[in-house]
Amino acid sequence: MTSSKGVADLGADTLRDLDYPALVLHEDALESNLAAMADFCAGAGVLHAPHAKTSLSPQVVERHLRHGAWAMTAATPAQVRGLHRLGVGRILLANVLVDDASIRWVADDLLSRPGEDAGFWCYVDSIAGAEALERGLAGTDRVLDVLLEVGYVGGRTGTRTAEESLRVAQHVASSTHLRLAGVSGFEGLMPTKGHDVPPGIDAYLANLGSTVRLLRDHGLIDESVPPIVTAGGSSYFDLVADALGPRAFDFPVRTVIRSGCYATHDHGTYRRTSPWDGRASGAPRLRPALELLASIWSRPEPTLVIAGFGRRDVPTDDTLPVVLGRYDASRRLAPIDGVTVDRVNDQHAFLTVPADLELSVGDLLGLGLSHPCGAFDRWPSIPLVDADHIVMGNVTTDL
Ligand SMILES: Cc1ncc(COP(=O)(O)O)c(C=O)c1O
Repeated sequence: MTSSKGVADLGADTLRDLDYPALVLHEDALESNLAAMADFCAGAGVLHAPHAKTSLSPQVVERHLRHGAWAMTAATPAQVRGLHRLGVGRILLANVLVDDASIRWVADDLLSRPGEDAGFWCYVDSIAGAEALERGLAGTDRVLDVLLEVGYVGGRTGTRTAEESLRVAQHVASSTHLRLAGVSGFEGLMPTKGHDVPPGIDAYLANLGSTVRLLRDHGLIDESVPPIVTAGGSSYFDLVADALGPRAFDFPVRTVIRSGCYATHDHGTYRRTSPWDGRASGAPRLRPALELLASIWSRPEPTLVIAGFGRRDVPTDDTLPVVLGRYDASRRLAPIDGVTVDRVNDQHAFLTVPADLELSVGDLLGLGLSHPCGAFDRWPSIPLVDADHIVMGNVTTDL
């Protein structure tokens, strides 16, 4: 019932009919996570532009929009094109844009779209970057909305000081083709340990807020619509909403969070860092929606089991997968204690098991992953399953 990696027939039983390994996406968990975030945004008065790079899946993007996403976020010009092809109206490129061909395409295709539901924003963090945009837009009558990106020392892109922010913003404000629409940042990669919140996060978010006030006080932000203030991945969006939500300003703003990975959540990095899992108790709770099914191939030593999956099938940039259990004859995922995935080759996994554990060749394991982006990357199509593991559709990762 699988025709190529990941593609499954409707109605197929993923505990019986597939070639393994197989990654499956649990629809009830996905929907419950999407609904939880939609409720949160409505309650906090923030807009949501989910990051499309998590799944790169048209079907997942459609679900985000159905749950009320205000815009979609992209990381690269190719992802912007993919969202445009899907008919997404508001697209936030959470990145600088410097290549001539991409800027020309934005000018010709994106900025020509009429209507209130159409919009495109990208970042600037330097005068050189602003000049690249201006060169690409020269000779057109287009005006491009840009967000000043504010970073932090040791971080990625983004200005490092208030003086630099002011200089870049002044340059943008004096340009013909650029309009300063707000301020952006990203807190999700700030260094931390385990479940701890990054020590620098409060100061960084406060800095984003004071930059908005500074630029506004200098008359550098376009005032025809409330400025955009955007930050927020899936680890600390609660802190972003507190520090940068509408109540944090004494003038109207549009606070936009860009969380993407919360949609599938995971058993690793987001389990540790999400406010709706390891980092805090209480509701709502996110549910990991991705599950890898893999069979036992061999038990060459009493405590060594070789399972049929490897780094071609699962992300390995954070932690290795965790064994959730083994499917028993009544299709129940029965937990098995003391089993760890210790290393992977391309297509083999090395599991350490207690010597007295009954585990046989051909047994089917359910595994949880860390970092959804890398999981979606490895599967061109992923069966969407109901609570009984029956295929209700496929999501493709070809945005
Ligand atoms: C700039 C930017 N914004 C938003 C996000 C989304 O965060 P998350 O993947 O935690 O949902 C990312 C993810 O890497 C990002 O790099």
